[in-house]
Amino acid sequence: MTNRLAEKYKDRIEQTFAKYPTKRSAVMPLLFLAQEEYGWVSPEGILEVAELCELDPTQVDSIAGFYTMYSETPKGKYWLQVCTDLPCALRGADQFYADLKEYLGVGDGETTDDGMFTVDHVMCLAACDRAPMLQCNFHYVENLDMDKMKALIEQWRAEASDDK
Ligand code: FES
Repeated sequence: MTNRLAEKYKDRIEQTFAKYPTKRSAVMPLLFLAQEEYGWVSPEGILEVAELCELDPTQVDSIAGFYTMYSETPKGKYWLQVCTDLPCALRGADQFYADLKEYLGVGDGETTDDGMFTVDHVMCLAACDRAPMLQCNFHYVENLDMDKMKALIEQWRAEASDDK
């Protein structure tokens, strides 16, 4: 089996291993690398991380399944996780989340037809005073309203088409 991660990210993987006492200790950052590469923790990503870390694939799969920051289903290029927990809801996050889904034409956890955006809602991300807020591929975006959100969506679409 070709190990795409090993071939494509040789230096990064070596740098990651250098931070840990054993290869198996690097399983979590390498799972993030797999998620970044495939857009989710795919079966091939699990196998490749297992080979790199010298672990059984079932061990790697169980780690990926335990932590919610690993996605075991395909996501869009931009994974938007809106906090709708109570403090954010009191600052308008519920309406913001509803408006965002309507604007993108998706439901909870769904991905736009072009594969660009997956929209989810999550519990407190510890940025309650900056709501409405979301994390996009785990980077915080705060003090949002729909005007700002529409501008960001256009910016991300432009960046994605530049990457092609
Ligand atoms: S309740 Fe949303 S960040 Fe805390």
